[in-house]
Amino acid sequence: MQLTATVGYEERDGIALILLDSPPVNGLGDSVRLGIARGLAHAGYRAGVKAIVLLGAGKLFCAGADIRQFNTPAATATPLLREVNQSTERLAKPVVACIHGVALGGGLELALACHYRIACRSARLGLPEVNLGLVPGGGGTQRLPRLIGAPAALEFVVSGKPVEASQALTWGLVDEVFDGDPVQAAIRFALSMAGREVLPVLANRSPAATEGLDFNALQQAVPARARNALAQRAAIACVQAATCLEFEAGLDRERALFEELVAGEPSKALRHLFFAEKEAAKLPGSVPTVLALRSVGILGAGTMGGGIAMALANAGYDVVLCEREQKALDRGLALVRRNYDISAAKGAFSPQEVQERMLRIRPTLDMRAFADVDLVIEAVFEDMAVKRAVFGQLDAICKPGAILASNTSRLDINEIAAATGRAQDVIGLHFFSPANVMKLLEIVRGARTSQEVVARCLKLAISMGKTPVQVGVCEGFVGNRMLTGYWREAGFLLEEGATPAQVDMALRNFGFAMGPLAMADLAGMDINWAARRRLAPTRPAHLRYSKVADRLCELGRFGQKTGAGYYRYEPGSRVPLSDPAVEAVVAHCAQEAGIIRRQIEEEEIVERCILALVNEGARIVEEGVAQRASDVDVVYVNGYGFPAWRGGPMFHARSMGWALVLEKLRALHARHGEHWAPAHWIEQQAS
Ligand code: CAA
Ligand code: NAI
Repeated sequence: MQLTATVGYEERDGIALILLDSPPVNGLGDSVRLGIARGLAHAGYRAGVKAIVLLGAGKLFCAGADIRQFNTPAATATPLLREVNQSTERLAKPVVACIHGVALGGGLELALACHYRIACRSARLGLPEVNLGLVPGGGGTQRLPRLIGAPAALEFVVSGKPVEASQALTWGLVDEVFDGDPVQAAIRFALSMAGREVLPVLANRSPAATEGLDFNALQQAVPARARNALAQRAAIACVQAATCLEFEAGLDRERALFEELVAGEPSKALRHLFFAEKEAAKLPGSVPTVLALRSVGILGAGTMGGGIAMALANAGYDVVLCEREQKALDRGLALVRRNYDISAAKGAFSPQEVQERMLRIRPTLDMRAFADVDLVIEAVFEDMAVKRAVFGQLDAICKPGAILASNTSRLDINEIAAATGRAQDVIGLHFFSPANVMKLLEIVRGARTSQEVVARCLKLAISMGKTPVQVGVCEGFVGNRMLTGYWREAGFLLEEGATPAQVDMALRNFGFAMGPLAMADLAGMDINWAARRRLAPTRPAHLRYSKVADRLCELGRFGQKTGAGYYRYEPGSRVPLSDPAVEAVVAHCAQEAGIIRRQIEEEEIVERCILALVNEGARIVEEGVAQRASDVDVVYVNGYGFPAWRGGPMFHARSMGWALVLEKLRALHARHGEHWAPAHWIEQQAS
């Protein structure tokens, strides 16, 4: 029988089966909570029922609260999860949670309130709430330490990382691990527990022992810049409560912290990103069934080629890595090896895994080795003539249907595709440096790129653990195009009176991992200098233009790699040091431009740099280069160090209110000129 639209009920051999059936992930929305409560009450008084099993339909038990319902009335409709859990453990008949797939968040909390838990060998169990800027809200932080001890519980709740069923068994988090059919395993286990009079109830246990944990020290050790610092601190406070408060008081503490977090902007931002990343990875229109890519060729073993080779080898792909000369190939491979050795030294890989990965990368100087690969990723110099020449060669060498991708950061994919006779197979795969670490991958769809090619590249990205975002062709695509305005304002602010350290500190205080000028020094200023020179003929003469970056480059100051950029660097050090020589360049540029320098406040620096990102992001959405505003957020958080707890530039602007954003843009437009003309898209949002 149906208890609610999302919860079913049946009895077999005297065992009541309560089935959570709410696709896609059996989330604990209001209807599921109500259904479980009804099922428990019904099974509780049925004389023939000896034990009760909770289980999930489809591929998993339960992924926790229905995140989409947070901050809506449905989230607070009774019964709350806390109440469902209390009724579960108060039942006089054994209640067993049968976990297959995953038990996450509220799903695991539900299981913890059951008297017994069994898990399929392939199942994973976790409390990932901190990843959403939350703590568990259904008693998980109070029951878990009472079951597995405070230290293990702390690691589990604060890291948010799920564990395998075997680990859960070792901890005593589950009572049995089974293979095979969950329903049969559950009935067998439930029958073996039927009739037990003393049932284990975690809520009845005394507070957990602290086992030497220093909660104050743990609080202070949470990195202030962690994307979920607030949630981590709250998680520690919850576990601490489980060691010093009676169960009910601990529950109240947990609930209060959950409610504070769920109402706050950081959690809303992280939940926005959770869904935004899933949306960004979806192919618009009809989704063709496509073959997975197996072998990949990479052209160019420089900074990017080497990193991409590592990222592919890590994901199990066979890679053919081609260079134009032995010296460059040796250098590239040595760098790959060194990076692997560093990771191995940190414990990320065993020496054998390093060896296996190195063996997957086949070096060559002969492009004909690409004849059989499914995809080639070109990562040679950022020069249109060079790119077109190699694409012509690749077109002649690669098999029909092979995908030809460019890792260009700014160049026109359509122009590159025109150098081949297969524009439908040409695409941009814009990895970020270091490519084996950075999650973001801009998938650049050319005017003629086929849907199949995009689908295959999306599949590849996901298999590599990347966060793909589909973008259209334009100068710099989404991320680098927005960077232009961001750096423009940083340059203007220098001319108007700010120092590089002041600009960077303001944006670090906003939450960026790094300020714009230190980032320019890290990335290498020569690349953008080349782009500015390329674009100079298209720049309207009447628009204000800061010459600071160009002047620094003319002095050979390309950033960290030359020991000097916006800052100076001691040999072998990455610590940016203020440099009077830069101050002199800035002062000279300001004088030339007739600017009277002034004291600049941090608020102005943040407002101008961030709104420059927002306004360009809006133009990108308006032009259809990004499919939606949240794609821009995914790019900025995953590729450019924008603070995740602010949700990305577009979410941040939305939180400010579009009317206020428009007002500020209009004021900047009136004061600083044409660069600041508000995007129509923002005008539309505001109205
Ligand atoms: N609530 C609502 N929707 C959810 C969801 C949730 N908890 N978890 C996943 N979804 C949605 C996804 O958005 C996606 O929707 P679309 O198909 O519309 O895009 C769909 O379910 C499938 O998700 P995935 O594409 O991620 O599928 P997957 O098979 O790759 O992964 C999963 C499944 C491991 C469950 C993964 O989705 C996941 O990790 N989900 C989040 C789990 C989580 O964070 N739970 C804690 C919730 S907070 C909580 O429970 C607080 C509390 O104590 C009360
Ligand atoms: P790099 O200069 O480090 O490496 C380029 C390599 O290509 C060199 O080793 C060179 O020998 C090789 N090469 C040049 N012509 C070749 C040919 N015809 N055949 C084989 N090999 C050839 O450059 P980097 O930084 O790796 O950049 C490569 C591409 O990636 C560029 O298009 C760049 O814009 C893009 N990119 C760079 C990022 C970065 O942070 N460095 C980030 C994202 C994209």
